Parts: sequence; structure tokens; C-alpha cells
Amino acid sequence: MYLCEKFRNEKFRNMKNPFKFGTIVEDEFFTDRTNELQYIQRVMDSENHLVLISPRRFGKSSLVVKVAKQMGRPYLFLNLQKVISTQDLAAKLLKEVFKLYTWEKVKHLMSHFHFVPTISANPLTNGIDVSFQPSSDSNVLLEDAMALIEKVSIPERRLMVILDEFQEIMQIDKGLDKQLRAIMQMQKGLNYILLGSQESMMTEIFERKKSPFYHFGTLMYLNKIPYQDFYDYLYERLSPVLPKESEAVSNEILALTNCHPYYTQQLASQVWELAKYEDIREGVVNEAVKRITDNHDLDFERLWVKFNRMDKQILQILCRGGNPLQNRGVATSTAFSAIKRLMKMGYVIRSEKYEVEDPFFKHWIIDKQL
Ligand SMILES: Nc1ncnc2c1ncn2[C@@H]1O[C@H](COP(=O)(O)OP(=O)(O)OP(=O)(O)O)[C@@H](O)[C@H]1O
Ligand SMILES: [Mg+2]
Repeated sequence: MYLCEKFRNEKFRNMKNPFKFGTIVEDEFFTDRTNELQYIQRVMDSENHLVLISPRRFGKSSLVVKVAKQMGRPYLFLNLQKVISTQDLAAKLLKEVFKLYTWEKVKHLMSHFHFVPTISANPLTNGIDVSFQPSSDSNVLLEDAMALIEKVSIPERRLMVILDEFQEIMQIDKGLDKQLRAIMQMQKGLNYILLGSQESMMTEIFERKKSPFYHFGTLMYLNKIPYQDFYDYLYERLSPVLPKESEAVSNEILALTNCHPYYTQQLASQVWELAKYEDIREGVVNEAVKRITDNHDLDFERLWVKFNRMDKQILQILCRGGNPLQNRGVATSTAFSAIKRLMKMGYVIRSEKYEVEDPFFKHWIIDKQL
């Protein structure tokens, strides 16, 4: 009995926070998405490409990395936020190719290159650096790099090319979208996954008829995580620290975050900390919300003063649970354009209805501005 209790205590003491937020999640931090995983796999098994869009922090990158790993095929992952020019794009693509394939395999496939890249080992990163002569024509460099990507991909192990934060393509260089599309549409034997957030240019790039990427691939919109799956995930992880309360606490967390993947993990993580290290049980969710909101008080204050009067009014209506489009105090057309603007900036999202994206900002508005 004594030993058993001692073992339990030691196990309890050594437990690590089972929630994670802010970066790509994998393994035990990843839940659900079964249908989405299957769907993406099917697209990857075909000759088609995938375009994945959702509001910020819904889990796009995590989902795509999971699919890529599960499929066991080679994949190249590049975040376009890290790319500063067309030349840099070519260099980064090559660098990723060198990570995936041996030099033996790649070198003879590069015989068509118009400019010879300088490839060097970087002892700081333990990786490879690729650079070009500054005078090289960047469009040609990109063509060469893209041609190599196509050549290294073989039918038995088709390469998947994942370009994250794809909307950045519009900022890197003028006309880069057109050039890339022209190259990509001629390529065979590989799959692209292009992902980005709804608030950004993503929707424009793939849905506007005049855009070079219009109808480029299968368009997929990612939703939040279903209630029951998220509930099970929370319940299981909270039970060791809140054995009696975990059912009610899991429901309370989801009611507040509305199943938003990132905020749910953030709130659950704070709840877990309070339960484990401060032994707070009663009102633990309220206390967690308070701590997180207090931490952001200054940011929220700064944000709030920047909104115009109409934006503030719309946010207040949403915080009260109302629909700004049916509010007698605001003309529908004015409310609609304000909502669109707030959505573009990422402060409002729409699932079943319009809602304030950040539940902690919502809490702050209710507390300080209503
Ligand atoms: N399948 C999942 N299971 C549990 N939590 C998840 C899952 N997917 C995402 N999350 C939570 O959401 C956070 C954001 O995930 P991720 O970075 O993959 O989203 P994203 O849509 O790519 O975000 P961004 O718009 O910032 O690029 C993760 O850190 C994690 O806390
Ligand atoms: Mg992402």
C-alpha cells in the first residue's frame, strides 16, 4: 500500500504538461483529424495537388506534416515566410532537395543547370548552404531548381512538395506567382500541397478567376476539432491532476474556446499547471482564463484603442453573443463591411456563426469594455 502510494506520488511529480500550443503538434499532442488525414492521402495518391485553407492556428501545418510522415514518401517542406527573394526560393528548394537525396543521386540530375550553385557545409547548422553568383538570373535559377525537383521524384516514391504560408508568394517578388504556376503546370509525377490562412491572400489566390493559381488543385477548408474528440483528449489528460473535476472542467474549457485547436490547448495547459502546481480545483478554469488574459492585458489594450468606432461596436455585439447583421443599431451593409474587415485582420472568424477569434480577447472585452 505504502509502496503503491509512493509510486503514484513519484509518477505524479514526474508528469509533464500534456498540452502543447504554438508550434506544430505531433504524436501524443495530436488528436482527431481522421477524415482529413484520409482525404489528403487520397489526393496525394492521385496526380492532383491540394490547397489547404483555414483561419490561423487551426492546425494546417500539423495536419500536413502528419500526412506526409504517415505516407512514408519523401516530402519537402518549405515555409515561404522564410523566403526573401526568387533567388532565395531557388536556393532554399535546392537545400531541401539535398537534405532528402544523396549527392550521388542528385549530381548527375543537375547537369542541365544554367548556373552552378555553390554548395557548402554549414558547421553551425550541421546542414548545407546553397548560394549563387549575385549576377545570376533569378528566374532561370528557379526554373533549374524546379526542374530538379521534378527529376528527383520517381514513380515508386513520388515527392510531395509542401509550401507553407503560400500567400507570401505575392510579397516575395512581383510576377513570381505567374512564373511558378507556369512551371508547376507542366510538371508531372509529384504532388504539391499549398497551405495558408484564410485571412491572408490565400482565398484570393485560389478563388479569383484571374489569378494564375485559380483551379490549381483540390481546395480543402479545415474546420475546428469536433467536440467529442477534443473532449476525450482533454478528459484523459486532465484526469490525473483533476480526478473528480475533469469531466466538468473539460466541458468548461471547450465551452470557452469553442473547440479552437490552439486556444483549447493553451487553456488546458494553464488549467493543468494550476491544478498540478498550485492545487487549485474549484474555479480552476476561471482562474486560468484570468491569468492568461491578465498576461495579455497590455496587448489587448493597445489593440482596442486602434479599432475604429464601428469595429468596436461589432466586437461588443459579438461578445454579447449577438449577430451584428441583425442588430437594429447598425446598418446591415456597414456591419457587413466591418465584419469583413475584421475577418481579414483575423479578429473575427466564422464557423457556425461569426465569433471573436481569441476567447481571451473576448473575455477581456466583456470584462473591460461592456
Ligand atoms: N490535431 C490537433 N490536435 C491537437 N491540437 C492541435 C491539432 N492541430 C493543431 N493543434 C493546436 O493548434 C496549434 C496550431 O497548430 P498549427 O501550427 O498546425 O496550425 P496552423 O493552422 O498551421 O497555424 P498558422 O496559421 O499559425 O500557420 C498547435 O500548436 C496545437 O496547440
Ligand atoms: Mg502553419
